[in-house]
Amino acid sequence: MTVNFFSLDKQTKALRKEIDQALAEVINSSRFILGPNVKAFEEESAKYCCGKFGIGVASGTDAITLSLSAAGIGPGDEVITVPFTFVATIESVLHVGAAPVFVDIEPKSFCVDASQIEAKITPKTKALLPVHLYGRLADMDSILKIAKKHNLKVIEDAAQAIGATQGKHVALSCGDAGATSFFPTKNLGGVGDGGLIVTNDEKIAAKVKALRGHGSTKTYMYDVIGYNSRLDEIQAAVLRIKLKKLDQWHVARNKNADLYYELLKDVSEVVLPEKPKDGRHVYNQLTIRAQKRDDLRETLKNKGIGAMVYYPLSLHKHVAYEFLGQKDAVFPECDRAEKEVLSLPIYPELTPEEIKEVVSAIKEFYV
Ligand SMILES: Cc1ncc(COP(=O)(O)O)c(C=O)c1O
Repeated sequence: MTVNFFSLDKQTKALRKEIDQALAEVINSSRFILGPNVKAFEEESAKYCCGKFGIGVASGTDAITLSLSAAGIGPGDEVITVPFTFVATIESVLHVGAAPVFVDIEPKSFCVDASQIEAKITPKTKALLPVHLYGRLADMDSILKIAKKHNLKVIEDAAQAIGATQGKHVALSCGDAGATSFFPTKNLGGVGDGGLIVTNDEKIAAKVKALRGHGSTKTYMYDVIGYNSRLDEIQAAVLRIKLKKLDQWHVARNKNADLYYELLKDVSEVVLPEKPKDGRHVYNQLTIRAQKRDDLRETLKNKGIGAMVYYPLSLHKHVAYEFLGQKDAVFPECDRAEKEVLSLPIYPELTPEEIKEVVSAIKEFYV
């Protein structure tokens, strides 16, 4: 049996009529930019994230970039983040002219090791940029405490984590601003690129709104250098339909994860990630640590089972980022994760039979 790493087929089929109708309405209205769907989606998604303001932008990358910029981060500033993440996290920092400063990850959560942050704070540090990797919140209690003590902004990279919670914290509304992505493989995915910023800060919201529209607050009047980064009406119309299903999809992903935990519990060569004690993981990825990871992945591939490595090389080691001068910096947990992580199929429509197929292929590999 072939098991795809990810598939939208069943989701699209189930929602097809509603999506077709919504798309037809947008096209018939001839309002494609910043129309009623974007406005409604911004309100609905901010509410979903327990935040005051939602601002739709063109991608998750832009959502981080514009959040940093609106929070006043710019040239000469340092932003503390992790190197074990998708490249967009640090691209955004560099695009606003600031410098990323790296901290190792915490091995059980794959998110920033908050206990190592303070050692990296300098007079230039202006913000913390935690990444809620794979759909689990970073340790926001500790991160917010450090930010308060040192007067730093907190911008969340919640591209993989809309809907994740931890204690009283809800992804995207924990700090000064939160950014997420609607790339089609995300838990809430559009029919193309898209992103969202959530903030409780009216000034940040106003700045992001100006930035996404060329820095303009009045037609053809420019107060700051901006971007062209708006969420399309077409994306917003589809995302409004999908947002209503998001909790049900999170539940299905958690159910799939639980089955993996149960079936893999006796496989000593595989370590499953720690479940959050007081909150919801949304499993954009179910990422295990596996002995002989590359051989296992190859074996699964030969059996028609998809599995991915997020991420094979921490960002400070890439050619593009050699100029940061951190190529030889040592982050032992990032190094270990690069060699061990393997993400298994987890999307909501996956069947128990498909999960059993993945697990029996893993078990066969280790006998
Ligand atoms: C952790 C992380 N940050 C940022 C992004 C960027 O989002 P987008 O692809 O929508 O620009 C992604 C998307 O893959 C991501 O996974």
